[in-house]
Amino acid sequence: MRPAPRAATQEVVSYFPYADRFPPNRTLPERGRPRGEILDELRSIAADEDTFWEDGHCSGTMYSGDHEHYEFLTEAFGLFAHSNALQRDIVPSATMFEGEVIAMTLDLMHSDQVTATTPGGLITSGGTGSIAHAMLSYREQARQTSDRYRVNVVKPETAHPAFDKACHLFDIELRLAPVDPVTTQVDVDAMAALIDENTVAIVGSACNYGYGTIDPIAALSDLALNRGIGLHVDGCLGGFILPFGQELGHDVPTFDFRLPGVTTISADTHKYGYAFKGSSVVLFRDVALRNSQYFFLTGWSGGKYCSPTMDGSRSVGLLAATWAAMVSNGREGYLRYAEQIFDTADRLKASVRSHPELRVIGNPTFCFSFTSDELDIYLINDHMRTKGWRFNGQQYPDAIHMAVTRPQTRPGVVEQFTADLTEAVAWARDHLGEPAQSGAVYGSIAGGMTAEADDFIRSIMADMMDHQLSLPQ
Ligand SMILES: Cc1ncc(COP(=O)(O)O)c(C=O)c1O
Repeated sequence: MRPAPRAATQEVVSYFPYADRFPPNRTLPERGRPRGEILDELRSIAADEDTFWEDGHCSGTMYSGDHEHYEFLTEAFGLFAHSNALQRDIVPSATMFEGEVIAMTLDLMHSDQVTATTPGGLITSGGTGSIAHAMLSYREQARQTSDRYRVNVVKPETAHPAFDKACHLFDIELRLAPVDPVTTQVDVDAMAALIDENTVAIVGSACNYGYGTIDPIAALSDLALNRGIGLHVDGCLGGFILPFGQELGHDVPTFDFRLPGVTTISADTHKYGYAFKGSSVVLFRDVALRNSQYFFLTGWSGGKYCSPTMDGSRSVGLLAATWAAMVSNGREGYLRYAEQIFDTADRLKASVRSHPELRVIGNPTFCFSFTSDELDIYLINDHMRTKGWRFNGQQYPDAIHMAVTRPQTRPGVVEQFTADLTEAVAWARDHLGEPAQSGAVYGSIAGGMTAEADDFIRSIMADMMDHQLSLPQ
């Protein structure tokens, strides 16, 4: 049984941090403001916010961190930002961008090894969208080809909450398979025991968000084949970096279409694909599975309607920028960045391992997490925060999570981490038993939120969305 959550030490997060510099808009301005003034305001805010990660002290989220690359993508985006991907007759380029992004990703995942079926893909707005569409396709295929209506999916408990969200949205039962506490990899036998006649797919992560570890995908592939069900590999985080890590000789097992049981893969272009936020790819071994999830309404008075994903209108700008990111990096660019990131991750892990009080969990890749059996890891996090570091906190066990990105590969960052961590370990020892300020929160919508009550979480989300109610007067 899991321990009770720690008492909440709530940080107050201001959702209106700029009110003292720029008067808030409570209504539409009577007259439009000059563009130059607006852009100055935006530039000033963006420059401030970029300082959070530019020094390489922020885990994940800024995968490229290269302003020249961002400017290039912005130009590519701007050329097509105003076009709608639903109107293909006037933007046939959308089909070119989408088709080529999918083809390049399929190639990376070795779809050339697929012989019996025709592989294909979809572009979605992010990892959650890609996972949702994969889950929907398994459900729809079961409904269309059998009398199974309420189906289930089995995921390792470490797999991303996007699976829980998809199953919540699409009324799929989600079963959780335990993981080995030391390796953090899913227990394949336990997963097998959870499969029944209504199971449509199992899940494995390559790698999972929490620990950066890879589930035994080859064994899951065998299991899926034996039981005649699908296997979704969540490569949202690892899809665009692990193949290059494998090529560079790092300990990365095969997790793609070379394994015959792998039926769908999600890979986020907006993470290590170095594209803009808002794009991801979901791949299908067989287009028939993808095609089962299409929505269309032929009898509508507004005309026959169909759209490939949950979105209706979509900007072609994001497709163009994603395409531009991929073709500008090329294999050589992705390989070079992967080499720098894997190397930096190895040096950071070595730094953690140099402290006997700390423990790196499992056998991680470019992303890792560490805990302590002696000290309060959140006290260590508290002290690292005073040095400008921003990690995500984890729970069961309490741990600090670090996804290494390009900003950490800059000169001096590893050395700074090493020095700050040494100080933080000493500080946590001196303050042992005192309450920590930080806690286990994914991202940071709520500062040090540690409470688990539903109403409390809902109120935090509502605060964030309804900030206009609390506009400073
Ligand atoms: C392994 C994994 N899967 C899925 C997701 C969800 O992706 P997104 O936040 O783009 O929806 C993430 C996000 O970090 C992830 O790390």
